[in-house]
Order: sequence, then C-alpha cells, then structure tokens
Amino acid sequence: MATTNNLQVPVVEDGIRYWNEQPASVDGVLGGYGTGSLPRIDALGSRLFLLHLYPELCTVSSALKPLEAHPVSNPIRALDVGAGVGRVTSDVLLHLVDTVCLLEPVTPFIQEALQNARKSAAANSSTQINGRHPIHWPGLAEQTKSVTFLQGTLQAFDPAHPIVSNDSSSSIAFIDRIGSHPDPEDPMTDIDSGFDVVWCQWCLGHLNDIDLVAFLQRSYVALRNHGADGHNGNSLIVVKENTCSDAEDGGLRTVFDEQDSSFTRSDMAWKAAFREAGLRLVKEQVQEGLPDGLYVVKMYALK
Ligand SMILES: C[S@@+](CC[C@H](N)C(=O)[O-])C[C@H]1O[C@@H](n2cnc3c(N)ncnc32)[C@H](O)[C@@H]1O
Repeated sequence: MATTNNLQVPVVEDGIRYWNEQPASVDGVLGGYGTGSLPRIDALGSRLFLLHLYPELCTVSSALKPLEAHPVSNPIRALDVGAGVGRVTSDVLLHLVDTVCLLEPVTPFIQEALQNARKSAAANSSTQINGRHPIHWPGLAEQTKSVTFLQGTLQAFDPAHPIVSNDSSSSIAFIDRIGSHPDPEDPMTDIDSGFDVVWCQWCLGHLNDIDLVAFLQRSYVALRNHGADGHNGNSLIVVKENTCSDAEDGGLRTVFDEQDSSFTRSDMAWKAAFREAGLRLVKEQVQEGLPDGLYVVKMYALK
C-alpha cells in the first residue's frame, strides 16, 4: 500500500528484507514485469540515452557517433548500483563500456548475477542454442570486458573507494571479478580508479533524502573526467527511477511505500535532491513504451 506520509522514511533493513523474499530473477526484481516487453524496451531506451550523452561509446558507425570522435584511451568503467540480478549490467552497460562494478546487497540476487556471469564467461560454441548463448554478458567469454561483484548497501558505499579495508570488517564485500583482469594477481587493482558512468536504476528510493544527497555527492567525486572547467567532461551519473506526480500546489511530493520501505519521488523532488547535491542536470527524458498503469519512469543525466 502506498501512502503519502512525511513521517515514514525508508529503513535499510526493511527494504533488504522485502527484496530477500522476492524471486532472484529478472521477473523478481521487476515486480512481475520481467517476462513482457518491459525489459527490452527499458534496456534499449537506456542504451540510446547513454549514447546520446556519450557518443564515444558507440562501437559502430552511426548517426550518434561523432565523425571526429575522441579516441577512448583508458578502459571505460561503469558502476551499476542496486543492481539486482545484473539486468542493467548485462543488457545495457556491457554493450557500451569495458568494465563494470556491480553493487547489490541482497545475497540471492548477487549470487544469481554472479552465476549468470560465470556461465556466460564459460560459454563456447557447444553451449549455443540456435546460434546464441541463452545467457549473454557481452565480452566476458572473450575476456575483453569484466564485471566486479561487490556486496553492500548504497548507504555504506563510497564509489571513489569501494572497499575501505581488505578484511571482513569492510561493510562492502568483494565477491569476485569475472572476465578480463588487468593484473591476474590482484582482481581489485583498478577498484579505486573512479567511474565514467554511474548508473542508478530503481533503487534510490531506498535512500532517505539525506542519504540520497550524500550518495550523489560521493558519486560525483568518483567521476573520472569532469572536464577542464569542472563541468564539461563526459563522465556522468544517470538516475533512472519512477516518478509520482508533484503536489497539487506545484511543490515536490514524496510517497512512502510500506511494502518495500521505499520512497517514490516526484520530478520536483528528484530535481531538488540533484540541486542539493550540487549536480547539474544535462538531460532528462521519459522512458516511453512501458506498460500502462506504471509510474512515469524518467532518466536524468547529471554532471
Ligand atoms: C527494483 S530492483 C532494481 C534492480 C536493478 N537496478 C534493475 O533495474 O534491474 C531494486 C534493487 O535495489 C536493491 N536495494 C534495496 N535496498 C538497497 C540499498 N539500501 N542499497 C543498495 N541496493 C538496494 C534491491 O536489493 C534490488 O536489487
């Protein structure tokens, strides 16, 4: 049941308890919308949104790719937070970037993601069905790309320094790295090297306003390329989230959902948080084509 109640705020443990009871599958993380058109439409919309902002990521000649694209020298790194079973990593990010760090707190979800990445990395022609592998995480079998699996919450996570200490006292646990290894002796060799893209989808509602602003600020610090003037680099944060309507008086609105202990924010509420975090909104877009009856889903690109 969704209620508007300014006194209720997300509780980390309640949110994690809810997700632990959901099936560890795409259908589970998408609340029963995993078998229809939603995952494909969502992933295509996300890829196009990112390519418009970051045309250098385009691997084929197209209208999106600049004629004189700056060559990308370093491997492009993305962060996928509240990643569930790795849907965004496998269907969006690995199609465009070289290496992904995936953060997810719920054990069955991160284990499902890890098993799928391992199966995809081990895939060969004998595991193909109709010329395709049933599970495909681009670049892992070829060892040209990598995914690093980290377990923990957004509240405890600092993208600039994902693992604060190497012992078990760290609140973020390194689980594994699948695919390419720049240094086979040390799978975490590039862990502190920042990100070109920070992708946050359908998970920031689990943060209260203070934690949301703090997480966005930490993410900004971890961006690799801010540009010479601090504004024009191509690194960016993408927030793709549900939005409820603004208040009738035109002000911002936040709706608390008791079921999963999360907030749904209105467009103005999201923008207030971005402003508070000192971020600049460079592009916003509604995800078209989703089934009727859902909240309006918006993509925001922030620098
Ligand atoms: C609706 S699912 C979205 C999963 C994924 N982003 C996607 O689009 O497929 C919400 C995810 O947020 C995660 N989550 C819940 N509380 C969290 C927290 N405090 N920190 C990080 N992730 C959290 C859940 O475990 C779940 O995987």
